[in-house]
Amino acid sequence: MAIGQQKWIVFIGPPGVGKGTQCRRLAQQFSLPHLSTGDMLRETKGVSVLGQMVAGYIDQGRLAPDDLVMRLVIQRIEQPEFSNGCLFDGFPRTVPQAEMLGAYFESKGSGVSVVIQLQGERSELIHRILERGRREGRVDDNQATVNERLEVFDRQTAPVLDYYGQAGLVRIVDGMQSPEEVFSAILNSIQPQ
Ligand code: AP5
Ligand code: MG
Repeated sequence: MAIGQQKWIVFIGPPGVGKGTQCRRLAQQFSLPHLSTGDMLRETKGVSVLGQMVAGYIDQGRLAPDDLVMRLVIQRIEQPEFSNGCLFDGFPRTVPQAEMLGAYFESKGSGVSVVIQLQGERSELIHRILERGRREGRVDDNQATVNERLEVFDRQTAPVLDYYGQAGLVRIVDGMQSPEEVFSAILNSIQPQ
């Protein structure tokens, strides 16, 4: 990625692999905003009809509708603080989301710079999520919902990796190392050698 260009960096990986942890740190490193669609959707949860609909998806570990997510994302990335790009955490999560993002970027003369695929082992992912559930009480961090989230990842999100893989954009990083090692591996995978 050349300096001076917009950087739109996509993080894809199963629940608990460390997308949020790494994006928070990389946001400082790159001075780029961190856009987590999970966080955005959790913020909309509430008493409105939209909020109740969103809560239904999140609480069951299913994906919110693509057009709703796209609307929220585009509204957000059109803000001035996104003029240099951002770190997308957990988005795009389906091939239609990736296609809609591609069409949007094409109309702006821009595009996804690189995709970081964080990989992890199922048992460790479940362990991390259940631990966080006990510690922080996130409503979808329980055994039943975790199983659904992992299945949804395999079924609906893994194809996004093929989509970007065909464009040569995917860098694979082992998310089972320490947070510091994962961070270094991500930097090595995106910075020119
Ligand atoms: P989202 O909020 O994106 O959740 P997720 O993908 O299930 O992933 P998590 O946030 O659980 O894990 P993470 O990879 O961020 O790991 P973290 O760094 O937190 O989505 C939630 C829901 O929102 C979805 O199910 C769906 O309903 C909806 N949604 C979101 N985006 C959507 C979209 N685009 N379209 C439609 N619906 C959407 O780490 C996890 C834990 O492990 C933490 O406790 C952390 O401290 C620990 N940890 C992290 N790294 C390490 C490490 N290297 N070693 C040891 N522990 C570590
Ligand atoms: Mg997260």
